[in-house]
Amino acid sequence: MAANPSTIGSGRSRAHGATGRADETHKPRWKRLYDKYGTAAGMSLAALAIVIGYAGRDSRRLFAEHGLGYALGIIGSLLILVLLLYPLRKRYRILKVLGPVKNWFRVHMMLGVVGPIAILYHSNFALGSVNSTAALLSMLLVAGSGLVGRFLYAKVHKGLYGRKTSLKELLAGVKLTTAETGGAARFVPDLLSMVAEYDRQVLKPPVGIVDSILLPMRLEFKTRAGYRSIVARVRQQLDEQAAQSPVVRQHRDRLLELACAFVREHLKRVRRVAAFAAYDRLFALWHKVHLPFFYLLIVTAIVHVIAVHLYAV
Ligand code: HEM
Repeated sequence: MAANPSTIGSGRSRAHGATGRADETHKPRWKRLYDKYGTAAGMSLAALAIVIGYAGRDSRRLFAEHGLGYALGIIGSLLILVLLLYPLRKRYRILKVLGPVKNWFRVHMMLGVVGPIAILYHSNFALGSVNSTAALLSMLLVAGSGLVGRFLYAKVHKGLYGRKTSLKELLAGVKLTTAETGGAARFVPDLLSMVAEYDRQVLKPPVGIVDSILLPMRLEFKTRAGYRSIVARVRQQLDEQAAQSPVVRQHRDRLLELACAFVREHLKRVRRVAAFAAYDRLFALWHKVHLPFFYLLIVTAIVHVIAVHLYAV
Protein backbone atom coordinates (compact mmCIF):
# COMPACT_ATOMS: atom_id res chain seq x y z
CA MET A 1 0.00 0.00 0.00
CA ALA A 2 1.83 3.10 -1.26
CA ALA A 3 -0.37 5.72 0.31
CA ASN A 4 0.70 7.66 3.36
CA PRO A 5 -1.75 7.18 6.23
CA SER A 6 -0.89 10.54 7.78
CA THR A 7 -2.86 12.17 4.98
CA ILE A 8 -6.06 10.27 5.81
CA GLY A 9 -8.96 12.65 5.99
CA SER A 10 -6.94 15.54 4.59
CA GLY A 11 -8.72 15.35 1.22
CA ARG A 12 -11.67 17.51 0.26
CA SER A 13 -14.17 15.23 1.98
CA ARG A 14 -17.65 16.46 1.15
CA ALA A 15 -19.08 14.89 4.27
CA HIS A 16 -17.20 17.42 6.34
CA GLY A 17 -17.35 20.30 3.88
CA ALA A 18 -19.01 23.68 4.23
CA THR A 19 -22.79 23.65 4.33
CA GLY A 20 -23.23 26.77 2.21
CA ARG A 21 -25.82 28.18 4.59
CA ALA A 22 -23.83 31.25 5.59
CA ASP A 23 -26.43 33.71 4.30
CA GLU A 24 -29.12 32.03 6.44
CA THR A 25 -27.50 33.41 9.61
CA HIS A 26 -27.75 36.99 8.31
CA LYS A 27 -31.54 36.84 8.15
CA PRO A 28 -33.48 38.38 11.05
CA ARG A 29 -34.81 35.83 13.56
CA TRP A 30 -38.47 36.40 12.67
CA LYS A 31 -37.66 35.77 8.99
CA ARG A 32 -35.90 32.51 9.78
CA LEU A 33 -38.84 31.40 11.93
CA TYR A 34 -41.25 32.42 9.17
CA ASP A 35 -39.25 30.50 6.54
CA LYS A 36 -39.12 27.43 8.76
CA TYR A 37 -42.63 27.30 10.18
CA GLY A 38 -44.68 29.76 8.07
CA THR A 39 -46.06 27.20 5.61
CA ALA A 40 -46.87 24.64 8.29
CA ALA A 41 -48.57 27.30 10.45
CA GLY A 42 -50.56 28.66 7.49
CA MET A 43 -51.64 25.20 6.35
CA SER A 44 -52.64 24.24 9.91
CA LEU A 45 -54.77 27.39 10.23
CA ALA A 46 -56.39 26.69 6.86
CA ALA A 47 -57.14 23.09 7.85
CA LEU A 48 -58.62 24.30 11.15
CA ALA A 49 -60.86 26.84 9.34
CA ILE A 50 -62.09 24.06 7.03
CA VAL A 51 -62.77 21.61 9.87
CA ILE A 52 -64.60 24.26 11.95
CA GLY A 53 -66.57 25.40 8.89
CA TYR A 54 -67.58 21.88 7.96
CA ALA A 55 -68.48 20.87 11.53
CA GLY A 56 -70.68 23.94 12.05
CA ARG A 57 -72.41 23.95 8.66
CA ASP A 58 -75.84 22.94 10.04
CA SER A 59 -75.88 25.28 13.01
CA ARG A 60 -74.68 28.35 11.07
CA ARG A 61 -77.18 30.69 9.42
CA LEU A 62 -75.12 31.58 6.35
CA PHE A 63 -76.82 31.93 2.96
CA ALA A 64 -75.07 32.24 -0.40
CA GLU A 65 -77.88 34.47 -1.73
CA HIS A 66 -77.59 37.36 0.72
CA GLY A 67 -75.79 38.93 3.67
CA LEU A 68 -72.41 37.66 4.86
CA GLY A 69 -72.64 34.47 2.75
CA TYR A 70 -73.08 36.53 -0.43
CA ALA A 71 -70.25 38.88 0.61
CA LEU A 72 -67.94 35.90 1.16
CA GLY A 73 -68.67 34.75 -2.41
CA ILE A 74 -67.60 38.13 -3.77
CA ILE A 75 -64.56 38.35 -1.48
CA GLY A 76 -63.41 34.80 -2.39
CA SER A 77 -63.80 35.49 -6.11
CA LEU A 78 -61.91 38.77 -5.85
CA LEU A 79 -59.08 37.08 -3.96
CA ILE A 80 -58.87 34.44 -6.69
CA LEU A 81 -58.75 37.20 -9.32
CA VAL A 82 -55.97 39.00 -7.42
CA LEU A 83 -53.87 35.81 -7.21
CA LEU A 84 -53.77 35.78 -11.00
CA LEU A 85 -51.45 38.76 -10.81
CA TYR A 86 -48.65 36.25 -10.13
CA PRO A 87 -48.75 34.45 -13.51
CA LEU A 88 -49.39 37.81 -15.19
CA ARG A 89 -46.49 39.52 -13.39
CA LYS A 90 -44.25 36.57 -14.24
CA ARG A 91 -45.18 36.62 -17.91
CA TYR A 92 -45.42 40.34 -18.73
CA ARG A 93 -42.41 42.56 -18.09
CA ILE A 94 -44.63 45.63 -18.28
CA LEU A 95 -46.03 44.64 -14.86
CA LYS A 96 -42.59 45.04 -13.28
CA VAL A 97 -43.96 48.07 -11.40
CA LEU A 98 -45.91 45.64 -9.21
CA GLY A 99 -42.72 44.49 -7.46
CA PRO A 100 -40.70 41.25 -7.28
CA VAL A 101 -42.18 38.07 -8.78
CA LYS A 102 -41.34 36.07 -5.65
CA ASN A 103 -43.57 38.31 -3.51
CA TRP A 104 -46.43 37.74 -5.93
CA PHE A 105 -45.79 34.01 -5.81
CA ARG A 106 -46.16 34.14 -2.02
CA VAL A 107 -49.38 36.18 -2.40
CA HIS A 108 -50.60 33.70 -5.05
CA MET A 109 -50.22 30.73 -2.75
CA MET A 110 -51.73 32.51 0.25
CA LEU A 111 -54.77 33.75 -1.67
CA GLY A 112 -55.01 30.38 -3.42
CA VAL A 113 -55.85 28.95 -0.01
CA VAL A 114 -57.76 31.86 1.61
CA GLY A 115 -59.94 32.56 -1.48
CA PRO A 116 -61.25 28.99 -1.81
CA ILE A 117 -61.90 28.86 1.97
CA ALA A 118 -64.02 32.04 1.67
CA ILE A 119 -65.93 30.35 -1.18
CA LEU A 120 -66.40 27.20 0.92
CA TYR A 121 -68.02 29.35 3.64
CA HIS A 122 -70.05 31.12 0.93
CA SER A 123 -71.42 27.70 -0.11
CA ASN A 124 -71.73 26.72 3.57
CA PHE A 125 -69.83 23.51 2.74
CA ALA A 126 -72.74 22.14 0.72
CA LEU A 127 -73.23 21.30 -2.93
CA GLY A 128 -76.14 23.23 -4.45
CA SER A 129 -77.48 23.35 -8.01
CA VAL A 130 -75.56 21.79 -10.88
CA ASN A 131 -73.93 25.07 -11.89
CA SER A 132 -72.78 25.93 -8.34
CA THR A 133 -71.55 22.38 -7.78
CA ALA A 134 -69.54 22.55 -11.02
CA ALA A 135 -68.00 25.91 -10.02
CA LEU A 136 -67.17 24.70 -6.50
CA LEU A 137 -65.59 21.44 -7.66
CA SER A 138 -63.55 23.20 -10.35
CA MET A 139 -62.26 25.63 -7.75
CA LEU A 140 -61.31 22.80 -5.38
CA LEU A 141 -59.63 21.01 -8.29
CA VAL A 142 -57.52 24.08 -9.14
CA ALA A 143 -56.63 24.81 -5.50
CA GLY A 144 -55.78 21.12 -4.85
CA SER A 145 -53.72 21.03 -8.02
CA GLY A 146 -51.98 24.21 -6.81
CA LEU A 147 -50.90 22.43 -3.64
CA VAL A 148 -49.45 19.56 -5.68
CA GLY A 149 -47.72 22.16 -7.90
CA ARG A 150 -46.21 23.84 -4.85
CA PHE A 151 -44.74 20.53 -3.72
CA LEU A 152 -43.23 19.84 -7.16
CA TYR A 153 -42.07 23.44 -7.57
CA ALA A 154 -40.03 23.23 -4.36
CA LYS A 155 -38.38 20.03 -5.61
CA VAL A 156 -37.04 21.58 -8.82
CA HIS A 157 -36.11 25.03 -7.52
CA LYS A 158 -33.54 26.26 -5.03
CA GLY A 159 -36.02 26.62 -2.20
CA LEU A 160 -39.52 27.92 -2.82
CA TYR A 161 -38.42 31.35 -3.97
CA GLY A 162 -35.08 30.55 -5.61
CA ARG A 163 -34.21 29.96 -9.24
CA LYS A 164 -34.73 26.67 -11.02
CA THR A 165 -32.14 23.99 -10.39
CA SER A 166 -30.58 22.31 -13.43
CA LEU A 167 -29.57 18.70 -13.91
CA LYS A 168 -26.12 19.84 -15.06
CA GLU A 169 -25.64 21.78 -11.84
CA LEU A 170 -26.69 18.81 -9.69
CA LEU A 171 -24.50 16.41 -11.65
CA ALA A 172 -21.50 18.69 -11.06
CA GLY A 173 -21.93 18.01 -7.35
CA VAL A 174 -21.51 14.25 -7.64
CA LYS A 175 -17.87 13.88 -8.61
CA LEU A 176 -16.13 10.58 -7.98
CA THR A 177 -12.49 11.24 -7.07
CA THR A 178 -10.21 9.93 -4.35
CA ALA A 179 -10.07 13.43 -2.81
CA GLU A 180 -13.84 13.38 -2.39
CA THR A 181 -13.51 10.31 -0.15
CA GLY A 182 -11.17 12.07 2.28
CA GLY A 183 -8.46 9.66 1.13
CA ALA A 184 -10.36 6.49 2.10
CA ALA A 185 -10.41 5.28 -1.52
CA ARG A 186 -6.63 4.72 -1.35
CA PHE A 187 -7.19 1.99 1.26
CA VAL A 188 -10.47 0.55 -0.07
CA PRO A 189 -9.49 -0.38 -3.65
CA ASP A 190 -13.04 -0.90 -4.97
CA LEU A 191 -14.72 2.02 -3.22
CA LEU A 192 -15.03 4.28 -6.26
CA SER A 193 -15.98 1.49 -8.66
CA MET A 194 -18.69 0.22 -6.27
CA VAL A 195 -20.15 3.69 -5.99
CA ALA A 196 -19.86 4.24 -9.76
CA GLU A 197 -21.78 1.01 -10.36
CA TYR A 198 -24.51 2.20 -7.98
CA ASP A 199 -24.65 5.56 -9.84
CA ARG A 200 -25.07 3.76 -13.15
CA GLN A 201 -28.04 1.82 -11.82
CA VAL A 202 -29.76 4.78 -10.19
CA LEU A 203 -29.13 7.55 -12.72
CA LYS A 204 -31.42 6.13 -15.36
CA PRO A 205 -34.04 8.68 -16.43
CA PRO A 206 -37.62 7.63 -15.57
CA VAL A 207 -39.66 6.07 -18.35
CA GLY A 208 -43.20 7.46 -18.43
CA ILE A 209 -45.42 9.13 -15.84
CA VAL A 210 -45.96 6.15 -13.53
CA ASP A 211 -42.22 5.59 -13.33
CA SER A 212 -41.70 9.31 -12.55
CA ILE A 213 -44.28 9.17 -9.72
CA LEU A 214 -42.85 5.96 -8.24
CA LEU A 215 -39.18 6.85 -8.69
CA PRO A 216 -38.74 9.05 -5.56
CA MET A 217 -40.21 6.23 -3.44
CA ARG A 218 -38.09 3.57 -5.13
CA LEU A 219 -35.01 5.72 -4.59
CA GLU A 220 -35.68 5.72 -0.85
CA PHE A 221 -35.31 1.91 -0.79
CA LYS A 222 -32.50 1.79 -3.36
CA THR A 223 -30.43 4.33 -1.41
CA ARG A 224 -30.79 2.41 1.87
CA ALA A 225 -30.04 -0.94 0.22
CA GLY A 226 -27.15 0.56 -1.81
CA TYR A 227 -25.60 2.11 1.31
CA ARG A 228 -25.83 -1.14 3.27
CA SER A 229 -24.33 -3.25 0.52
CA ILE A 230 -21.47 -0.83 -0.28
CA VAL A 231 -20.58 -0.36 3.40
CA ALA A 232 -20.56 -4.15 3.94
CA ARG A 233 -18.05 -4.51 1.11
CA VAL A 234 -16.00 -1.57 2.40
CA ARG A 235 -15.76 -3.29 5.80
CA GLN A 236 -14.70 -6.54 4.15
CA GLN A 237 -12.01 -4.85 2.02
CA LEU A 238 -10.71 -2.85 4.96
CA ASP A 239 -10.41 -6.02 7.04
CA GLU A 240 -8.50 -7.70 4.21
CA GLN A 241 -6.16 -4.69 3.93
CA ALA A 242 -5.77 -4.54 7.71
CA ALA A 243 -4.69 -8.20 7.80
CA GLN A 244 -1.76 -7.28 5.51
CA SER A 245 -0.84 -3.85 6.80
CA PRO A 246 -0.37 -2.77 10.45
CA VAL A 247 -0.83 0.87 9.37
CA VAL A 248 -4.29 0.16 7.94
CA ARG A 249 -5.06 -1.89 11.05
CA GLN A 250 -4.20 1.12 13.18
CA HIS A 251 -6.41 3.49 11.16
CA ARG A 252 -9.17 1.01 10.29
CA ASP A 253 -11.95 2.72 12.28
CA ARG A 254 -11.11 6.19 10.97
CA LEU A 255 -10.97 4.87 7.39
CA LEU A 256 -14.32 3.16 7.83
CA GLU A 257 -15.81 6.36 9.22
CA LEU A 258 -14.49 8.38 6.26
CA ALA A 259 -15.67 5.85 3.70
CA CYS A 260 -19.14 5.68 5.28
CA ALA A 261 -19.42 9.48 5.39
CA PHE A 262 -18.42 9.68 1.72
CA VAL A 263 -20.83 6.93 0.62
CA ARG A 264 -23.71 8.44 2.65
CA GLU A 265 -23.18 11.93 1.23
CA HIS A 266 -22.58 10.69 -2.33
CA LEU A 267 -25.68 8.50 -2.36
CA LYS A 268 -27.73 11.40 -0.98
CA ARG A 269 -26.54 13.61 -3.84
CA VAL A 270 -27.05 10.98 -6.51
CA ARG A 271 -30.53 10.36 -5.15
CA ARG A 272 -31.26 14.09 -5.46
CA VAL A 273 -30.11 14.06 -9.09
CA ALA A 274 -32.20 10.99 -9.91
CA ALA A 275 -35.26 12.37 -8.10
CA PHE A 276 -34.82 15.74 -9.80
CA ALA A 277 -35.22 14.12 -13.22
CA ALA A 278 -38.54 12.63 -12.06
CA TYR A 279 -39.83 15.80 -10.38
CA ASP A 280 -38.83 17.96 -13.34
CA ARG A 281 -40.85 15.78 -15.63
CA LEU A 282 -43.84 15.74 -13.28
CA PHE A 283 -43.71 19.52 -12.85
CA ALA A 284 -43.77 20.05 -16.64
CA LEU A 285 -46.75 17.70 -16.83
CA TRP A 286 -48.43 19.46 -13.91
CA HIS A 287 -48.30 22.77 -15.81
CA LYS A 288 -50.09 21.11 -18.71
CA VAL A 289 -52.88 19.88 -16.40
CA HIS A 290 -53.18 22.92 -14.13
CA LEU A 291 -54.02 25.40 -16.88
CA PRO A 292 -57.03 23.46 -18.29
CA PHE A 293 -58.33 23.10 -14.70
CA PHE A 294 -58.01 26.84 -14.36
CA TYR A 295 -59.88 27.50 -17.63
CA LEU A 296 -62.61 25.14 -16.43
CA LEU A 297 -62.87 27.20 -13.24
CA ILE A 298 -63.22 30.44 -15.23
CA VAL A 299 -66.02 28.99 -17.39
CA THR A 300 -67.94 27.36 -14.53
CA ALA A 301 -67.59 30.47 -12.32
CA ILE A 302 -68.96 32.73 -15.09
CA VAL A 303 -71.86 30.33 -15.75
CA HIS A 304 -72.56 30.19 -12.00
CA VAL A 305 -72.65 33.99 -11.58
CA ILE A 306 -74.92 34.43 -14.62
CA ALA A 307 -77.23 31.57 -13.57
CA VAL A 308 -77.75 32.78 -10.00
CA HIS A 309 -78.33 36.40 -10.97
CA LEU A 310 -80.48 35.86 -14.06
CA TYR A 311 -82.33 32.65 -13.22
CA ALA A 312 -81.78 32.36 -9.44
CA VAL A 313 -80.58 28.72 -9.73
C1 HEM B 1 -58.29 28.89 -6.92
C2 HEM B 1 -57.01 28.91 -6.67
C3 HEM B 1 -55.90 29.00 -7.69
C4 HEM B 1 -55.90 29.44 -8.98
C5 HEM B 1 -57.05 30.00 -9.76
C6 HEM B 1 -54.54 29.28 -9.49
C7 HEM B 1 -54.14 29.64 -10.76
C8 HEM B 1 -52.86 29.49 -11.25
C9 HEM B 1 -52.43 29.83 -12.57
C10 HEM B 1 -53.32 30.40 -13.66
C11 HEM B 1 -51.11 29.53 -12.67
C12 HEM B 1 -50.18 29.71 -13.89
C13 HEM B 1 -50.05 28.39 -14.61
C14 HEM B 1 -49.07 28.48 -15.77
O1 HEM B 1 -48.46 29.51 -15.99
O2 HEM B 1 -48.89 27.45 -16.44
C15 HEM B 1 -50.69 28.99 -11.40
C16 HEM B 1 -49.43 28.55 -11.11
C17 HEM B 1 -49.05 28.05 -9.90
N1 HEM B 1 -49.81 27.97 -8.77
FE1 HEM B 1 -51.76 28.43 -8.62
N2 HEM B 1 -53.75 28.76 -8.50
C18 HEM B 1 -54.53 28.57 -7.38
C19 HEM B 1 -54.14 28.08 -6.17
C20 HEM B 1 -52.87 27.71 -5.85
C21 HEM B 1 -52.44 27.21 -4.57
C22 HEM B 1 -53.35 26.96 -3.38
C23 HEM B 1 -51.11 26.96 -4.66
C24 HEM B 1 -50.15 26.43 -3.62
C25 HEM B 1 -50.24 26.67 -2.35
C26 HEM B 1 -50.70 27.30 -6.01
C27 HEM B 1 -49.43 27.14 -6.50
C28 HEM B 1 -49.06 27.39 -7.79
C29 HEM B 1 -47.75 27.08 -8.31
C30 HEM B 1 -46.60 26.40 -7.57
C31 HEM B 1 -47.75 27.50 -9.64
C32 HEM B 1 -46.59 27.35 -10.66
C33 HEM B 1 -45.69 28.51 -10.52
C34 HEM B 1 -44.68 28.60 -11.64
O3 HEM B 1 -44.40 27.64 -12.36
O4 HEM B 1 -44.15 29.70 -11.78
N3 HEM B 1 -51.78 27.76 -6.70
N4 HEM B 1 -51.77 28.98 -10.57
